[in-house]
Amino acid sequence: MFSKISRKLRGALALLALMAAPLAFADEPPPSPEELVKIQAANGKCLACHSEAGLKKPPKEGLDLKKLRSHLVHLDTYTASDHGQMACTKCHGDGYDEHPHEADAKDSLSECQDCHARKAMRIERQFDKSVHAENLSETFTCVTCHDAHSMTLAAKLRDPHKIVAQDNKICLDCHDSDLAFAKMAPDKKKRPPIDDIHDWLPNTRLHWKAVRCIECHTPTEDKLSLSHEIQNKDKAEKKCATCHSANSSLNARLYRHLATEEQNKYGFLNSVILSNSYVVGATRSPTLDMILIGLFVATLAGVIGHGLVRVIMTRLRRSKNHD
Ligand code: HEC
Ligand code: HEC
Ligand code: HEC
Ligand code: HEC
Ligand code: HEC
Ligand code: HEC
Ligand code: HEC
Repeated sequence: MFSKISRKLRGALALLALMAAPLAFADEPPPSPEELVKIQAANGKCLACHSEAGLKKPPKEGLDLKKLRSHLVHLDTYTASDHGQMACTKCHGDGYDEHPHEADAKDSLSECQDCHARKAMRIERQFDKSVHAENLSETFTCVTCHDAHSMTLAAKLRDPHKIVAQDNKICLDCHDSDLAFAKMAPDKKKRPPIDDIHDWLPNTRLHWKAVRCIECHTPTEDKLSLSHEIQNKDKAEKKCATCHSANSSLNARLYRHLATEEQNKYGFLNSVILSNSYVVGATRSPTLDMILIGLFVATLAGVIGHGLVRVIMTRLRRSKNHD
């Protein structure tokens, strides 16, 4: 009874939040230092069990440690994440204060939309058009991709290596794992091996480290913000020059958080990204030119050297035979 009312109340609050949303991203000011101390103390109570330390030294006997092991939250990762200043109980509602947790505690979990109404509306519209929303069951939702305990905005991560790692992990955890894929896929659909699909792309594993899946799999009209619409495969980007050219959309998007000097500091090997060498055979990068010329000279020297040795050896052998 009580929980029903509180859910209705939450619905009303979400509606209110929707109306107030233009004011702030998550309709709340950040906690004051005093509030933060209280939040951390409260979270510490959950983490007394839900952490490696808790697993080793449970504060209570008779816990299902096997289950607990798959329910750990890493404090440092959590603190550094977008939600790191929030009380666990803001999202996990009533029913978790005591253990055993209440049977219906799960039902009180807040959804992204409850707190991020305005932003979520835009994103939901894009997500609804994605291949996942259209082809897969309702169980594919925001939290299938987003771990609320670890997600960190690209603008906060800054370093493109880290951004690529975080964002591609989402896709690879499923598209590079038969187990995870099968859980989500329609009956009997086999997972196409990720490197085979992209066999036209040289050194795929390096690309997975350097460039995001979504860079090629979402519409690119909007150069500055990324869409959540993962498109059908025949709409995917295949042109090398989209990234391997001086004014690439990759530069505009992956590096948009950084000033030019920072792009150089954090960036991938600029010569590789900015050269057309892999595309049309003409490089624009002096460094790469030097390497290529160096390679050419070395090869030439090798051939000449090899030839010389052979000539000398033959002469020597001949003169020996003549004796
Ligand atoms: C005394 C140890 C202990 C404390 C304290 C504790 N938990 Fe748990 N929790 C567990 C164990 C063990 C499980 C594994 C499943 C089970 O036994 O219910 C679990 C499961 C969970 C689950 C997943 C299962 C579900 O119902 O969805 C969530 C979420 C959760 N706890 C949240 C919390 C939060 C939030 C707090 C703090 C307010 C908290 N827990 C405090 C021991 C604890
Ligand atoms: C911003 C919202 C949010 C906050 C804050 C939050 N959680 Fe969660 N948590 C979630 C969501 C969403 C899920 C469900 C993921 C799913 O369904 O796969 C979840 C799942 C869990 C689970 C279940 C198993 C798992 O790991 O997937 C545990 C345990 C848990 N949270 C503990 C905590 C603890 C402890 C804290 C505080 C340190 C916390 N959560 C803070 C949103 C949050
Ligand atoms: C109970 C409310 C609540 C829920 C549920 C919630 N968030 Fe948040 N979220 C917040 C608050 C509060 C912040 C911190 C706002 C800030 O620092 O500006 C935040 C921050 C963020 C940020 C960083 C934004 C920024 O500008 O710093 C992102 C991204 C985000 N949340 C995404 C999500 C996603 C995705 C989900 C669902 C898995 C989710 N949130 C669920 C309350 C929530
Ligand atoms: C298929 C996986 C996937 C699903 C499903 C998904 N997201 Fe995302 N989301 C991502 C990736 C990857 C990024 C990183 C893009 C970036 O850095 O801008 C992201 C970024 C975000 C951001 C931060 C960037 C921004 O625009 O502020 C928010 C907020 C967000 N998602 C919310 C949601 C919500 C809400 C849903 C559900 C309606 C959702 N996401 C569903 C993969 C997903
Ligand atoms: C939890 C699993 C899961 C996650 C996470 C996931 N996907 Fe998928 N994805 C699937 C499944 C299952 C299919 C097959 C759908 C079908 O049969 O039509 C699919 C299909 C696709 C397709 C093929 C569409 C077509 O034309 O056949 C693309 C492209 C794709 N995903 C890209 C991504 C990207 C990019 C990400 C990360 C942002 C991602 N996926 C995250 C499970 C996942
Ligand atoms: C350089 C651009 C690019 C990148 C990066 C990229 N893809 Fe693709 N992807 C494509 C293209 C183009 C196709 C269509 C290939 C075809 O039809 O021959 C495709 C096809 C797919 C398919 C369809 C498979 C099928 O045949 O059913 C999936 C799933 C997929 N990609 C997932 C991913 C994931 C996950 C990542 C990140 C690890 C990723 N892609 C990175 C360009 C890219
Ligand atoms: C979405 C952007 C993107 C697309 C499209 C793309 N690449 Fe790349 N590629 C990159 C990035 C970023 C790197 C830089 C990797 C590094 O420096 O670590 C890279 C690196 C490379 C490398 C260097 C690999 C090595 O071993 O050092 C080659 C070769 C390459 N790409 C070829 C291609 C070809 C051929 C295509 C078209 C079929 C293509 N790329 C399409 C982004 C892209």
